[in-house]
Amino acid sequence: MDTVMRLIPLLTLLLSIASFTLSLCNGNPNVPCRENERQTLLMFKKDLNDSSNLLSSWVAEGDCCTWTGVACDNLTGHVRELHLAGYYDEVAGEYHRLGGKVNPSLLNLKHLTYLDLSYNDFGGRQFPSFLGSLKGLRYLNLSYAEFDGTIPHQLGNLSSLRYLDLSYNFGSKVENLKWLSGLSLLKHLGMSYTDLTRASHWLRVNTLPSLLVELHLSGCELYHMPSGIANLTSLKVLDLSDNYFNSTIPTWLYSLNHLESLDLSLNAFHGEISSSLGNLTALVHLQLGSNQLEGEIPNSLGNLCKLTHFDLWSNNFRGRVSEIFESLSSCSFGQIDFLRLSDNNFSGHLFDQLGIFENLRTLDLSNNSISGIIPVSLGNLSLLEELVIDHNLFEDVVSEAHFTNLTRLVTFYANENSLTLKTSPDWVPPFQLSTLGLSSWRLDPSQLPAWLQSQKHLAFLNMSSTGISGTIPAWLWNISSVKNQKMIHSQIYVDLSRNQLSGEVPNIASTHWPKQQHLDFFTPIVVIDLGSNQFNGSLPLVSSAVTALDLSNSSFSGTLSHFFCDRSDVPKNLQILLLDNNLLTGEIPDCRLHWPNLTVVNLEDNNLTGKIPSSFWDLLSLQSLHLRNNNLSGELPMSLQNCSKLLFLDLGGNKFVGSIPIWFGQSLVVLLLRSNKFQGTIPHELCSLTKLQILDLAHNNLSGTIPRCFQNLSSMATKFSSEEAPSIEFFVVSISGSSTFRFSYSYIENAVFVAKGREVKYNTVLRLVTSLDLSRNMLFGEIPEELTNLINLQTLNLSDNLLTGRIPSKIGDMGVLESLDLSVNQLSGEISPSISNLTFLNHLNLSYNNLIGQIPKSTQLQSFDLSSYASNKLCGPPLEERCSPNEPMPPVGDEKHREGHLLEDGGFYLSLGLGFAFGFWVVLGSLLSNVPWSNAFSQFQNRIVQKFYAAIVERY
Ligand SMILES: *[C@@H]1O[C@H](CO)[C@@H](O)[C@H](O)[C@H]1NC(C)=O
Ligand SMILES: *[C@@H]1O[C@H](CO)[C@@H](O)[C@H](O)[C@H]1NC(C)=O
Ligand SMILES: *[C@@H]1O[C@H](CO)[C@@H](O)[C@H](O)[C@H]1NC(C)=O
Ligand SMILES: *[C@@H]1O[C@H](CO)[C@@H](O)[C@H](O)[C@H]1NC(C)=O
Repeated sequence: MDTVMRLIPLLTLLLSIASFTLSLCNGNPNVPCRENERQTLLMFKKDLNDSSNLLSSWVAEGDCCTWTGVACDNLTGHVRELHLAGYYDEVAGEYHRLGGKVNPSLLNLKHLTYLDLSYNDFGGRQFPSFLGSLKGLRYLNLSYAEFDGTIPHQLGNLSSLRYLDLSYNFGSKVENLKWLSGLSLLKHLGMSYTDLTRASHWLRVNTLPSLLVELHLSGCELYHMPSGIANLTSLKVLDLSDNYFNSTIPTWLYSLNHLESLDLSLNAFHGEISSSLGNLTALVHLQLGSNQLEGEIPNSLGNLCKLTHFDLWSNNFRGRVSEIFESLSSCSFGQIDFLRLSDNNFSGHLFDQLGIFENLRTLDLSNNSISGIIPVSLGNLSLLEELVIDHNLFEDVVSEAHFTNLTRLVTFYANENSLTLKTSPDWVPPFQLSTLGLSSWRLDPSQLPAWLQSQKHLAFLNMSSTGISGTIPAWLWNISSVKNQKMIHSQIYVDLSRNQLSGEVPNIASTHWPKQQHLDFFTPIVVIDLGSNQFNGSLPLVSSAVTALDLSNSSFSGTLSHFFCDRSDVPKNLQILLLDNNLLTGEIPDCRLHWPNLTVVNLEDNNLTGKIPSSFWDLLSLQSLHLRNNNLSGELPMSLQNCSKLLFLDLGGNKFVGSIPIWFGQSLVVLLLRSNKFQGTIPHELCSLTKLQILDLAHNNLSGTIPRCFQNLSSMATKFSSEEAPSIEFFVVSISGSSTFRFSYSYIENAVFVAKGREVKYNTVLRLVTSLDLSRNMLFGEIPEELTNLINLQTLNLSDNLLTGRIPSKIGDMGVLESLDLSVNQLSGEISPSISNLTFLNHLNLSYNNLIGQIPKSTQLQSFDLSSYASNKLCGPPLEERCSPNEPMPPVGDEKHREGHLLEDGGFYLSLGLGFAFGFWVVLGSLLSNVPWSNAFSQFQNRIVQKFYAAIVERY
């Protein structure tokens, strides 16, 4: 995902240079080019790979000064400039990039001053070091060219260079930067995404060319602020983003008073912004996003009269948002066009005169605590394209008036506020949105707004939890169209979940949706989330473009056969399919499942019947399958082993028969076969599932003994950190939104199983949970001592079997056990004293066994309900039964009063007949009221309570 994020600016740039490259090409044709230089260019071309015919005009005949990308001196005919940047042709949807090798014949171009090879693909070749001999170069651009390796120090010989850009050759590095001192005339230096770790000390001394006006050192793996920059007093552009700086912002930065653009984003700067910020009066762009900066924004912000782009996203800034608007309005409001304050702690209300910021194109206030109304003057911001205010405390009504002049609005993302949208039924909005997020708003009227129909480019629509009712009109799928959209929007997201929508859902398809992959890194994505509504009727048919579909928690009925088998010749893109908790019936259809990407399938809580057909397991990408709580039956087909990527398998609550399969894939983390009719023994093959964290075989007809090899279940036997725990979040897609924020859609795995005596649904913490449940079977024999090697097990349930023998003596080794149930077996002997080491235990059931002797003492063991020990021959607290007199016993109190006694040494003890479960306040109450000396001690009550408590804890 990181790479995609980084490629987005690349693409934007590619788009913007597309036209540029073609226009700047030809020199004056009157003086033809030199023959030897023409031959040189042809030789240079020969080594290049020009699959997109960028150099088609470079042919054997003719004046080379007229060739694409070549510019000659109009007096001498010498080749002076080569403009050979690659570009993306938006219309054709194609890249034009040169590849291959850079031939050293270029050295023959003695008059070359300008060489641009950016945005090409030299496939990880080393930087050509011979370029260091092109002494006349004033401009050299090798950025985004897929060069690799060490930047050649020979470049330091190019003493005439004014412009050097080596940025965005990912993986490139430098050994030192000494050579930079040779470039004394350099004004522009770009080394972003060059690894400068080995050279960072060179940036702290005066190696940087002192005339630098523009310096780009983004993503250079720098840890310490390069103080060498402090002397670059001519700097206008400084980009230090995406490094590891973790200091405060150094004071000297505020003295670089020619700075027009400063980018410190994506670092770990902390501390407050100095009021000296106001000295940087030339600033136009200021980017401080994604740091740990805090405090309020100094009022001197008001001195930055040229500021147009102000970005503070993701810091810990606080203060009233109205003050920032007031500062900005003092002189720069005429210009400010980008303002992003998202993901901070800003509070207060919006500035009433919001409408005076008439150049605003982007306003992002999301994830703050801004409250109050949205001023109607918002409607004056006629250039506004993006308005992002989600996750705030805005309240009251937003009406048509708020949008009066917002003719350019493309993004309106306002989820999670207490706002109500009130529009008349015939409203025609002035805008054409591509993104609309109103999740958790109230809509008035409370239905899908008719005006949506006017939005022809909507790609992202979120109206979840808005309380809307009614049906889904067929036109909904047509508005979500990518026709004429820029490629960034080749993605559709419709979320109408958690509403009261009803009726049948029209087939989910649009002729405008993307069908195939046009681009390397923007796979078309379609996410449809209609979960938790009241839909009925049969399942809609779904376009093959749909990537994730959630129709869960409704009342869909009928069979799956149409849905699964319609057009089974067309490959489907679906990755996530959630149909759980509906009224679906019939069998899982047996047809060709041409769904190569299907990763998550949830069909639980329906009424599906019959066997799982063999063909179902052709879903080779399947990682998560939930079929829980249906009426499925038969044996599990052998073909299940095809799904070797399965991580989660929940077949619980069905009528499956036969033996437990032995061919689960090694990736399995959660296996839930609970409440079926599996029989036979527990196969030893299960022990090879070393990633298994949750194994639930409860409520079956399994017999035989508990395999000793369970100790090999490494995830239960070894502690792992949360970093090592498996991911349970399926990021099917990452969806790019507007320029200021991105969507992503993911499915978080969940599992229901019994822990601590009740059914619990785990989702986000599931990755850290471990559980072994074999209860309600017919397992016999002893509990293998080896089981106590599962020291990372949190829940162990062996209840309701035919187990005999003793509780394993080393049970206390299972130090993280929180829930232990061995009830309803035939266990005998004394309870292993090591059980008192289980300090995390908060659920224990040993009832209905033949255990004898005294219950061991620990803080936990005496605090459980009596029923934990019922129907054994146990004695000692918390039970009333006294242990036999040969065991050392504390004295016993009077039966009638059941009171405690004050011992001579000042300590307390309790009648042992009293269960601790009655609670100690009850006991203490009776103690204090039954003994006459209680009043005398009343002023010391608190101290007594403390002592009393201490005595109990100590004793038991
Ligand atoms: C040559 O080109 C330069 C720069 O483009 C221009 O200023 C000059 O007028 C041109 N001279 C002739 C003779 O065309
Ligand atoms: C900045 O320049 C001054 C004067 O040339 C010099 O004394 C000082 O060492 C330089 N600072 C750094 C950090 O290079
Ligand atoms: C900054 O990072 C360095 C290197 O990782 C570390 O040693 C130092 O403790 C960090 N300082 C702060 C203030 O976080
Ligand atoms: C900012 O300007 C004020 C007033 O001119 C000056 O006193 C202060 O030193 C300057 N701050 C910096 C960091 O240059």
